[in-house]
Amino acid sequence: MNEITLSWQRNFLNNYGTPSLKLVSGKGVWVKDSNSNRYLDFLGGIAVSALGHSHKNIVKAIKKQSKTILHTSNLYQNQPSLDLAEKLRSLTKREAKIFFCNSGAEANEAALKLTRLANKNTTISLSNSFHGRTMGALSLTGQKSKQIGFEPLLENINFVEPNDLNDLAEKSKSGIGSIFFEPIQGEGGVVDLNYSFLQELENTAKNHKAFLVADEVQTGIGRCGYWFLSEAMNIEPDVIVLAKGLAGGLPIGAIMVFGELQNTFNPGTHGSTFGGNPLSCAVALAVLQTIEEQNLLENVRLRGEQLVRNLQIHPQVEKISGAGLLRGIHLSEPKAKNVVEKSQNNGLLVNAVNDFIIRLAPPLIVNEYEIDLACQKLVTAIEQA
Ligand SMILES: Cc1ncc(COP(=O)(O)O)c(C=O)c1O
Repeated sequence: MNEITLSWQRNFLNNYGTPSLKLVSGKGVWVKDSNSNRYLDFLGGIAVSALGHSHKNIVKAIKKQSKTILHTSNLYQNQPSLDLAEKLRSLTKREAKIFFCNSGAEANEAALKLTRLANKNTTISLSNSFHGRTMGALSLTGQKSKQIGFEPLLENINFVEPNDLNDLAEKSKSGIGSIFFEPIQGEGGVVDLNYSFLQELENTAKNHKAFLVADEVQTGIGRCGYWFLSEAMNIEPDVIVLAKGLAGGLPIGAIMVFGELQNTFNPGTHGSTFGGNPLSCAVALAVLQTIEEQNLLENVRLRGEQLVRNLQIHPQVEKISGAGLLRGIHLSEPKAKNVVEKSQNNGLLVNAVNDFIIRLAPPLIVNEYEIDLACQKLVTAIEQA
């Protein structure tokens, strides 16, 4: 074991294992490691680095805001959070109110507390889902492997098989208070939900006067070619949960709340010291403005189609799931982890969500040349693995 590995292990708890690469800098879609090797970053910090690395608009926003004011607490108003909330509200067709926090798990906690305060009946979540690692978000997460050892978790949560209308009908028979879903299950393997199933989630929530929560932590803010994938699919959730790419790499989470739920929280019911901090909000605003000015939603749709065209013809690729620039490459053999290693050796960063599926989530700014190059590197890796 070399000294770098030893010093990592001496310092950190083992929940991430020991990463094999140390990244030291990045520019656009490219990152460099501590040995000056360059990689195309097709994971984007797990769907976070929406504008790639060192984007000039993000650098400018950080510089400007850090010279102005970094923290105010929520005892005082701050302009960047107000500007960001206004901007987010302008991106949906319906009237929204916002709560800011710092991560996806926290945003789901807020959504869970909000919906539980308004309706105490059972919560429906989906098997194979991922909503975060805090106890509430973990209770919503439909993966036993993530929950094991942490019981007792929250009660009154029932899991429905994705795309199974009968299971949904069965599990909601005795009354429900809320339904949580990801429009595409990201961590679960980039699993697509059928349009008819999504519609039935919405109908079921309406019929039971329950609240529908779309966890768009991974699918939102342009990742799938639309500001919000649920809206693009004509679904109207009561809450949209956001995080990851919203501030392009700074910590942020948010819930956008529609309709009667807007009246549920009162002063003192919920809060977060850093939620709505001026720095993350100023940067998030710069991210949203850049996506708009550079027409990146269209870029995401076009580059996503290009990626599918390039890879779907390969005999070892069974199918490609996802939308826009959130894609799951399903291999015909269980060698995804090997493919990740070979890709890394070829200068491409991707990840394996399980033994068969490679996840791609490159920055939204990725260009035509970079897509072709990444696909070539991935095909080489698939053939080497
Ligand atoms: C859909 C979804 N929800 C919630 C989370 C949790 O976000 P965080 O890691 O920021 O707490 C994730 C993270 O991968 C996610 O993909």
